[in-house]
Amino acid sequence: MKNSSFFTIGCLILHRMCLADINTFFPQIKGDLTLVTWAHAVNNASYLNSILNNDAIMMIEADIVLGTLNGSTEIIPIMGHPPNNTSDLSLAQFMERISDFNAKSNSTSSRKGVKLDFKTIEAFNNSVATITASNSTGKYPLWINADILRGPTNATADPVNADQFLSISQQFNNTVLSIGWTTRFTNISTGYSDTNIEDMNNTITKNNVTNEITFPVRAALAANSLPQMKKLLNAVNGSTLTIWSSDENDKVDVASLKTLIADVGHTKVYLDVPEHLRKQILSNSGNRMAMSAFITIVIAGLVSMFY
Ligand SMILES: *[C@@H]1O[C@H](CO)[C@@H](O)[C@H](O)[C@H]1NC(C)=O
Ligand SMILES: *[C@@H]1O[C@H](CO)[C@@H](O)[C@H](O)[C@H]1NC(C)=O
Ligand SMILES: *[C@@H]1O[C@H](CO)[C@@H](O)[C@H](O)[C@H]1NC(C)=O
Ligand SMILES: *[C@@H]1O[C@H](CO)[C@@H](O)[C@H](O)[C@H]1NC(C)=O
Ligand SMILES: *[C@@H]1O[C@H](CO)[C@@H](O)[C@H](O)[C@H]1NC(C)=O
Ligand SMILES: *[C@@H]1O[C@H](CO)[C@@H](O)[C@H](O)[C@H]1NC(C)=O
Ligand SMILES: *[C@@H]1O[C@H](CO)[C@@H](O)[C@H](O)[C@H]1NC(C)=O
Ligand SMILES: *[C@@H]1O[C@H](CO)[C@@H](O)[C@H](O)[C@H]1NC(C)=O
Ligand SMILES: *[C@@H]1O[C@H](CO)[C@@H](O)[C@H](O)[C@H]1NC(C)=O
Ligand SMILES: *[C@@H]1O[C@H](CO)[C@@H](O)[C@H](O)[C@H]1NC(C)=O
Ligand SMILES: *[C@@H]1O[C@H](CO)[C@@H](O)[C@H](O)[C@H]1NC(C)=O
Ligand SMILES: *[C@@H]1O[C@H](CO)[C@@H](O)[C@H](O)[C@H]1NC(C)=O
Repeated sequence: MKNSSFFTIGCLILHRMCLADINTFFPQIKGDLTLVTWAHAVNNASYLNSILNNDAIMMIEADIVLGTLNGSTEIIPIMGHPPNNTSDLSLAQFMERISDFNAKSNSTSSRKGVKLDFKTIEAFNNSVATITASNSTGKYPLWINADILRGPTNATADPVNADQFLSISQQFNNTVLSIGWTTRFTNISTGYSDTNIEDMNNTITKNNVTNEITFPVRAALAANSLPQMKKLLNAVNGSTLTIWSSDENDKVDVASLKTLIADVGHTKVYLDVPEHLRKQILSNSGNRMAMSAFITIVIAGLVSMFY
């Protein structure tokens, strides 16, 4: 597995060769991954246009299903979220738009990275040729996402077959693999178990994965699993967490998430959550800084009283 800091230093020197590295591609975040901004379900042409023109967005998340372009009968990878199976945007068109946009983009503050979310192995396998033909790997941050293991909440969705997914992914060694667990909303306070973490670690090891890895973890569950999250990051060299939340009903223990982020550091955690939650979570670092500044001033004051 990649040694991230060595990789980043290498990228600073060989800048142009490492555009796939997120810290090189988005220098404005200064290594603070919690500052990366996200757009979701960018699955149609008009929305893609508006997001490309939105400088506030860094990473574009989009879903791929097998289906048809509006007006066609050919079944191809299209941008869409199940149960939809038609779209006005194919994966090929999507990838071309991103490549063109980034090639023309002359400012690091407008260019975009991409997270492709695959719900089935068929959709992924049938997208390999398109992704390869787009020549995009290595040119911008490209993440390939799937839930490959069953999570702690008895989710009804079946995970994507882990061995098949990781085997096919080996064709994209310059991408980040975003691999997680199926989950669902639950009002039972629960989190990722030790077994969940061991399963993931073993799955990665068994499949000889060399890609950089991020683990998408559901905010409500991650907040209840601090030891497990740390164990996971320690087990998989150079890995990061992507804390996500979408269900408004999820009860998120914000204080625990703040502790988690403070403990593992802003260089290890992406924060892909609704704005109101992001504000609550990040308000902590401000408070902590204010508190340590306050303590420093008090100590300085006390010290100066004695001298
Ligand atoms: C395009 O995608 C956005 C975001 O997912 C959605 O709100 C909008 O309804 C979609 N538009 C069309 C025409 O499908
Ligand atoms: C798309 O979904 C509709 C409704 O479920 C179904 O009737 C149709 O066969 C599907 N088309 C394809 C290409 O899968
Ligand atoms: C399905 O497509 C319609 C029309 O493009 C869009 O408004 C809707 O958001 C899509 N649904 C999902 C689940 O993506
Ligand atoms: C397909 O085309 C119809 C008619 O032009 C339009 O109403 C519909 O929104 C389109 N669907 C998608 C998914 O683009
Ligand atoms: C950057 O790109 C924009 C749009 O393509 C263009 O209008 C602008 O002149 C460019 N700026 C520089 C400094 O090249
Ligand atoms: C992926 O597609 C190839 C043909 O392109 C096929 O040989 C292979 O069995 C498929 N793998 C999976 C896991 O579907
Ligand atoms: C990708 O690269 C190949 C070989 O360099 C080239 O033939 C092809 O046109 C490129 N495709 C795109 C979409 O730029
Ligand atoms: C999942 O199912 C098991 C066995 O049925 C049950 O004990 C557990 O409480 C369920 N967990 C959740 C979060 O619903
Ligand atoms: C990545 O894949 C390319 C093309 O498949 C190959 O040439 C290269 O050696 C691979 N790099 C690593 C580090 O595996
Ligand atoms: C959780 O939801 C179930 C069914 O939706 C309900 O019966 C139960 O009272 C709820 N428990 C809590 C703690 O809210
Ligand atoms: C992983 O590497 C080992 C040792 O080289 C090899 O025996 C094994 O078949 C590989 N497993 C996979 C899934 O590629
Ligand atoms: C992760 O897997 C490796 C290889 O199987 C093993 O040596 C290590 O102890 C595991 N770490 C954890 C925390 O489970």
